[in-house]
Amino acid sequence: MTGARMDGLVVAERVKTEAAEAARRLRGKGIVPCLATVLVGEDPASAVYVRNKHRACAAAGVDTQDHTMGIGISQPELDSLIERLNADGAVHGILVQLPLPRHLDEFGTISRISSAKDVDGLTPESAGLLAAGRARLVACTPLGIMRMMDHYNIGLEGKHVVIINRSRLVGKPLYHLMLQRNATVTTCHSRTANLEDICRSADIIVTGVGNGSFELTSGMVKPGAVVVDVAINRVDGKLRGDADYAKVLEVASYVTPVPGGVGPMTVAMLLHNTLAAAGHGS
Ligand code: GUN
Repeated sequence: MTGARMDGLVVAERVKTEAAEAARRLRGKGIVPCLATVLVGEDPASAVYVRNKHRACAAAGVDTQDHTMGIGISQPELDSLIERLNADGAVHGILVQLPLPRHLDEFGTISRISSAKDVDGLTPESAGLLAAGRARLVACTPLGIMRMMDHYNIGLEGKHVVIINRSRLVGKPLYHLMLQRNATVTTCHSRTANLEDICRSADIIVTGVGNGSFELTSGMVKPGAVVVDVAINRVDGKLRGDADYAKVLEVASYVTPVPGGVGPMTVAMLLHNTLAAAGHGS
């Protein structure tokens, strides 16, 4: 069997078009949707991610505030910036780019964000609501994966979904989203025993290791399974995911490429969440 490529660029474009239409409608009602980003320090990868988010917002008609802070910012200064953005009626979404420098308290900082503006779905309140089946704003990458599943008409009910990632940004929220769609979900991580066997039992594998320590080979994939690759590994200056893409495509039914798979969906869903936050109560 030869599988099909799941094209994140195509699906992301559709989400962005919907976001632009929603932005136009809100502007027509006098609401100018606005995302505030907070970037601390000079990590080049984080700076690129934030720049891409600003560009996507501009293209969709979403205003942005760029709060790029020096690495020397103190915790109280960062806290008061978050409080200011919480109180700013012109700001609908707040995104603190992670990771923060080590001297800052990541959990404490994120926890301060008003859950109504938590477009990353990372506050304890957002995470708790998702776990309770009452999600408001959900982390962008898992939301993007669900959107891709729906776009390609991939049924989830009764399917065994294996997620190789347990982060707050990807694995944990995705677990709940898949469970709510009646999938049977297994979360795997670096200490999981018999990972290869578990993968072979999966109807859908979502892999997001991304540190070069793991490769999802075709031998770990059941014929006809779906493979979603969330990882970004830099190898010889090129981006690649966890999966051996060409070989896995020979056994799977669908595979997301890297780049051009889940990555573009993350930014598109950030627009979606910002518009949802801006539209709430309008
Ligand atoms: N760093 C890497 N991915 C993300 C993301 O989705 N949101 C935030 N805030 N930081 C990140």
